[in-house]
Amino acid sequence: MIYETIVGTLSKEGRVNFAPFGIKKNKKFIYISPYIPSKTLNNLDQTKCASINYLDDSSFFVKCIIGNKKFTKKRCLKIKCFFLKNALSHDEIVVESVKKNKIRPVFKCRIVSQQNHKRFQGFNRANGAIIEACILASRVRITKKEIIFKNLNNLSESVLKTAGVSEKKSWDLIRNYIFDATKQK
Ligand SMILES: Cc1cc2nc3c(=O)[nH]c(=O)nc-3n(C[C@H](O)[C@H](O)[C@H](O)COP(=O)(O)O)c2cc1C
Repeated sequence: MIYETIVGTLSKEGRVNFAPFGIKKNKKFIYISPYIPSKTLNNLDQTKCASINYLDDSSFFVKCIIGNKKFTKKRCLKIKCFFLKNALSHDEIVVESVKKNKIRPVFKCRIVSQQNHKRFQGFNRANGAIIEACILASRVRITKKEIIFKNLNNLSESVLKTAGVSEKKSWDLIRNYIFDATKQK
């Protein structure tokens, strides 16, 4: 199973970076597979640790993709890194080994701390649809225009039926980002 999360990492210069990643996990380990190139990959190589942030608010995924990453963060307890203040929960991990690959290496990371912060309020279909739209946005350069718009159109129904004010705003932001990005194709 793949869990959609926001991964927080630190560069060797001490600059924090948050980015969406689908992770795999078991009780002891988390596996992150970043395509080359990526800041997260460089940071995992350099500083060997990360926070894995679990959220029910898709606006964080949208803000990462559109490049508006000024998130309120807190210092991790067991590693030299930061987690998102709004995370429902987060894991702190250290890189144990890397399975090298020219396209997509896999970082095997040991979980050294797990913390819960807020109550999960239940699923919302609009949030799920917005995360799907973020994935479309992150693949906009490698996907055919017709497929992007067909998928976006299918997702819009859940948003129209179930979104609150914040989700409507996120939906507009990610839609506009996709429209702008496809204009350049
Ligand atoms: C929900 C979601 C899951 C993603 N999962 C991955 C992943 O597993 N591997 C990957 O390379 N990119 C993944 N991406 C795309 C990255 O988030 C994107 O390439 C991002 O720009 C990487 O940021 P960074 O350069 O700051 O690390 C995902 C995007 C979304 C929206």
